Amino acid sequence: MSTELSTEIHNAVDGRRNFAIISHPDAGKTTLTEKLLLYGGAIHEAGAVKARASQRRATSDWMAMEQQRGISITSTVLQFEYQGCQINLLDTPGHQDFSEDTYRTLAAADNAVMLEDGAKGLEPQTRKLFEVCRMRRIPIFTFFNKMDRPTREPLELLDEIEQELGLKTYPVNWPIGTGDRFQGVYDRHTQEIHLFERNAHGKQAAKDTMIRLGDPRIEELLDQDLYYQLKEDLELLDGLGSEFDLDEIHAGELTPVFFGSAMTNFGVQLFLDAFLEYALKPGDRQSSQGLMSPEYPEFTGFVFKLQANMDPKHRDRVAFVRVCTGKFEKDMTVSHARTGKTVRLSRPQKLFAQDRGSVDVAYPGDVIGLNNPGVFAIGDTIYTGKKLEYEGIPCFSPELFAYLRNPNPSKFKQFHKGVTQLREEGAVQIMYSSDESKRDPILAAVGQLQFEVVQFRLLNEYGVDTRTELLPYSVARWVLNGWDFLDQIGRLFNTMTVKDNWDRPVLLFKNEWNLHQVQGDHPDMKLSAIAPLSS
Ligand code: G4P
Repeated sequence: MSTELSTEIHNAVDGRRNFAIISHPDAGKTTLTEKLLLYGGAIHEAGAVKARASQRRATSDWMAMEQQRGISITSTVLQFEYQGCQINLLDTPGHQDFSEDTYRTLAAADNAVMLEDGAKGLEPQTRKLFEVCRMRRIPIFTFFNKMDRPTREPLELLDEIEQELGLKTYPVNWPIGTGDRFQGVYDRHTQEIHLFERNAHGKQAAKDTMIRLGDPRIEELLDQDLYYQLKEDLELLDGLGSEFDLDEIHAGELTPVFFGSAMTNFGVQLFLDAFLEYALKPGDRQSSQGLMSPEYPEFTGFVFKLQANMDPKHRDRVAFVRVCTGKFEKDMTVSHARTGKTVRLSRPQKLFAQDRGSVDVAYPGDVIGLNNPGVFAIGDTIYTGKKLEYEGIPCFSPELFAYLRNPNPSKFKQFHKGVTQLREEGAVQIMYSSDESKRDPILAAVGQLQFEVVQFRLLNEYGVDTRTELLPYSVARWVLNGWDFLDQIGRLFNTMTVKDNWDRPVLLFKNEWNLHQVQGDHPDMKLSAIAPLSS
């Protein structure tokens, strides 16, 4: 490799950070995203992301369903520059469009920002997404939002993370009051207080007034009781809290914690600066050839998400590829590890908000969208040079189950073809009852939207009008002990035994309580919420 290319890749990796936000609906992900883009100069006025989305909704009809529901099925990758660093924000679909893609996106992220509403603390969707981050041991940055509103006690919020997630916390800054009495945050590293000023919904970057802790003006600027509370809290944190340890942060064992108010723009810049300093740059990835350094000169990457029908005129499918090593160039020819075929990567795309722009080059940590219909499946590796394959992306525990019925026998072939294709694309997981007399496939999904997408596409692309029949289960666990073990223990009440696409046993439970009861009765049974990787 030429030294120029190796320097180019080295510099690109050094100046790149990639992350995804994990949060529960309403915590403020859209708002925070907008404010981050505002600081990155990618947009000039907050509100643009939302406005743009609704503008598009009015003009685009790429999927009738998207319009009907008024939601965005498209998950996007936002790229912006901040202090000379290229930041990639991988959007994790939430709300009604929560689906397995949300989990898969985390497979492509190097860092995660755990965004919590300060009044609510940990919420269900955040916990689930956190589990995926923990599995990958990626650094987690915590941002407590909405401090301008009454919140829970900050110490209690930290305790919740420590106790319930088993994650150590290190507050980088600390709030002074909350709600109407929110007066700012104290930065523990610089020992400065940043005073909160209410402004008009933080449309522009916020004015930041700082004052040092020992400054005599503090007495006038802060309410006395809040000032004493701050001093007390800091003593407690210094005495009993975890120490700052960058290695622990990088190993996903300690989370740096920030407080702020995305809506009023307060604390966002402090957060972004610290994030840039502590976040991991694109790192090594495990492959069939061992750990691959991003500076390995050949281009390699893997598909973490497929999206169909973004443009109804072309019926195209976009494969989203995370670049892992080397340099991607437009029109390059790569090998496809699963099929052994050679593929020319034409029409590569980079996504900004929801506009598609063309991309000429990309580096480790970037995401590109490729238009190669039918070629790619979730988890596929593409490469130049020596053959290698990255570890696949596992299936995540579905929570909704439904028989998928085809009432029209003459459409059997199309039905079967469509279901197989959609499964391969990763639109939904398909399971079958272990009772051979029940042949209809069971759709297993993380979000309701996945069912709707499957039915919509079966009708529009395969001409099959299907029905679903919801099953009364909400928890799935792969039984790692295998079929023999299940045969030995005999019938389990309130559960259903199904097999996944690789004929592996999966138990469906009505609820968590039911799961714990069965697990308690059969302590030898090894259950996993995440499917073992299929080969
Ligand atoms: P999401 O993407 O995580 O679902 O959340 P989103 O940003 O849409 O925010 C959810 C609601 O919370 C919005 O209010 C938003 O304005 C508000 N919000 C976000 N950050 C803050 C904050 O720091 N402080 C306060 N007080 N509110 C915040 P909404 O009424 O649903 O929408 P909108 O009319 O304000 O757009």
